[in-house]
Amino acid sequence: MIPLVDLKLQYQLHKDEIDAAMQESAAAAAYILGPNVKALEADLAAYCQCSHGVGVANCTDALHLSLRALGIGPGDEVITTPFTFVATTEAIGILGATPVFIDIVPETFNLDPARLEAAVTPRTRVILPVHLYGQPCDMEPVLDIAQRHGLRVVEDCAQAIGATYRGRTVGSMGDLGCLSFFPSKNLGCFGDGGMVVSNDSDAAAHVEMLRRHGGKVKYHHSEIGLNSRLDDLQAAILRENPATLRSGTTPDGAMPPATRSSCRERPASCFPRRLRTCARSTTSTPCA
Ligand SMILES: Cc1ncc(COP(=O)(O)O)c(C=O)c1O
Repeated sequence: MIPLVDLKLQYQLHKDEIDAAMQESAAAAAYILGPNVKALEADLAAYCQCSHGVGVANCTDALHLSLRALGIGPGDEVITTPFTFVATTEAIGILGATPVFIDIVPETFNLDPARLEAAVTPRTRVILPVHLYGQPCDMEPVLDIAQRHGLRVVEDCAQAIGATYRGRTVGSMGDLGCLSFFPSKNLGCFGDGGMVVSNDSDAAAHVEMLRRHGGKVKYHHSEIGLNSRLDDLQAAILRENPATLRSGTTPDGAMPPATRSSCRERPASCFPRRLRTCARSTTSTPCA
């Protein structure tokens, strides 16, 4: 079997920094929405070319709360792709809205903008493109159609953090972008985690409220929300993750080569070697 990612190796390579960060967070005892969450929100928002970052419990909640922040509910239609993880559609269904699927471009696996306009109805409120396998969806026509029809755009960036489309980072092109920190994602923590990034101050503030039981101030709840907060411990780990920004980004926002750690490159380097032998062998052995 060829592993897609080696989480044990990733931890071993950066064990000292990660352990120290976890101990520091534990000692500070600001476990919920602590200083590491705040720092990560600022770093990741900047990295995604956004002015706001709101840490949440996972990307499923990021999608759900983004749609809630835009007022999506029963009777509304959200156009998206059927070729995605179930969470994309789940976030629409949980609000009682209707997912409207359009087919994908076979070369990119992302939704086909040529089919988009025909799917718009008077009930359409949002377009939800998914940037699958690290490959951005063709956003120019998506944004153009959204603008012409007065629709909002929520980007599912769970698989594509840091990917760029014509100089723009995914998550910054629509109204809100949703990130996943599931352990095997490009930027993973040691459990579940997610974030909403946005350049829309109102929408970001609304998500911030919704993630905390619908209240801005503790024990004052203006609407029904969710308990969907990012732990300080997870944020501390994410800040030490070699794939993240702690190690620094270049002025143009790109990751410096040194941070593209061997924890991802080593398993990836197995592919050409292992695939060469596939034709000759039916046995499967793990990559060293
Ligand atoms: C495209 C896509 N969207 C959403 C999600 C949900 O992410 P999370 O597990 O953080 O809720 C995933 C997770 O695999 C995904 O691949």
